[in-house]
Amino acid sequence: MDMESAYREAVALDNQDELSGYRSRFISGDEKLIYLDGNSLGRLPAESKEILERSVSFEWGERLIRSWNEDWYTKNISLGDKIAPIAGASEGEVVITDTTSVNLYKLAHAALRFQKGRTRIVSDELNFPSDLYILQGLVKEFGDEYELAVVSSRDGMTIDTMDLKAVIDENTALVSLSHVAFKSAFRYNMKEITGLAHEKGAMVLWDLSHSIGAVSGELNTANADLAVGCTYKYLNGGPGSPAFLYVRKDLQDKLISPIWGWFGEKNPFEFELKYRPGDGIKRFLAGTPPVLALKTIEPTLDMMIEAGMNSIRNKSVSQSDYLLRLAERFLYPLGFMPGSPTDPEMRGSHVSLRHPEAYRICRALIDPDVGGAVVIPDFRDPDNIRFGITPLYTTYTEIIMAIREIRDIVENKLFLKYSGEREKVT
Ligand SMILES: Cc1ncc(COP(=O)(O)O)c(C=O)c1O
Repeated sequence: MDMESAYREAVALDNQDELSGYRSRFISGDEKLIYLDGNSLGRLPAESKEILERSVSFEWGERLIRSWNEDWYTKNISLGDKIAPIAGASEGEVVITDTTSVNLYKLAHAALRFQKGRTRIVSDELNFPSDLYILQGLVKEFGDEYELAVVSSRDGMTIDTMDLKAVIDENTALVSLSHVAFKSAFRYNMKEITGLAHEKGAMVLWDLSHSIGAVSGELNTANADLAVGCTYKYLNGGPGSPAFLYVRKDLQDKLISPIWGWFGEKNPFEFELKYRPGDGIKRFLAGTPPVLALKTIEPTLDMMIEAGMNSIRNKSVSQSDYLLRLAERFLYPLGFMPGSPTDPEMRGSHVSLRHPEAYRICRALIDPDVGGAVVIPDFRDPDNIRFGITPLYTTYTEIIMAIREIRDIVENKLFLKYSGEREKVT
């Protein structure tokens, strides 16, 4: 396969793509920009912009406080119900609130309290550092008898189920893992791992940040206990849009959130002085939701429900496989190595490629003065370039063009003019 035939294949695949119509429902400030970072910050849906403008000018500007009773007050519950089918959960099991880190704290705390007497938490070294920090903080908070066991990766890319199994014992209260690893995109078999933990009486808390909206949800079929996740990646909620949390229905009234805020109270506007936990999932709320940031999430949820998660996942696998095929043909001879599993069953919706000069190559890709097109992937230390495949708007043509840019930059050593000093956000 040469570049020309690869390009022709991309055009043909775009023409056959049944999801191609969704791309025009996103704002594109620069038509030529090749954006492959939707796994970090999703594009802006045109409808989210309209909703935001209306919410500011009409709901806030004109309706003012009346808007709370018109639609604002119940939004974090009603949008949770729209995330539920995408996450493979049921109505009343998901709510949008706070950040992923705060939600992880609330649910992990609740699990440790529920599992009193068990003192081990299990995680792995591919997990997102914020999750590990929260778990470390909980160990400190709960006392010296508690410990965090962090399973190592043998290849820096995946976790061997046997290694995980070896540390989950009768003393394990909680297993807290990312469903899809942020760097390598390694994806756990949720059902298998949840079953494994349950056999020992441990609960499982899944971080879905890198899988929600890209991988078909399976919380209920896996019998998962707890989950959290971001909405600003594949759900395109915008920078800092609030996160979600899931608690399986039968556990909701058994668990106690460590933060007893008024939005989690039975009836906040009775202003009772003594806290009474709200019914069901509501008790995991804490304070006033950021309404404007919440509303921008809805258009993507609607698009995903309409498109169907199976179609989204199929396109994600097809595009990731295509990217890996091109990488093998054009980039591995230039010093690149795979940074993600090649088996799609073990992968989320981004692909990592590793190169000793990954950081400087990334800078060259983003620089409009270099090459023919601006390509935005992202970089993760020490040597990963992550390419986010977002089936609602990524095209095959963008993928081949990105590969061509990378090849040109590396072959012509165009990255040499950049310093390797890291910017604050990479
Ligand atoms: C897997 C994962 N977990 C947690 C977080 C942290 O999310 P937040 O900043 O909403 O707490 C991120 C952020 O990117 C993430 O990728």
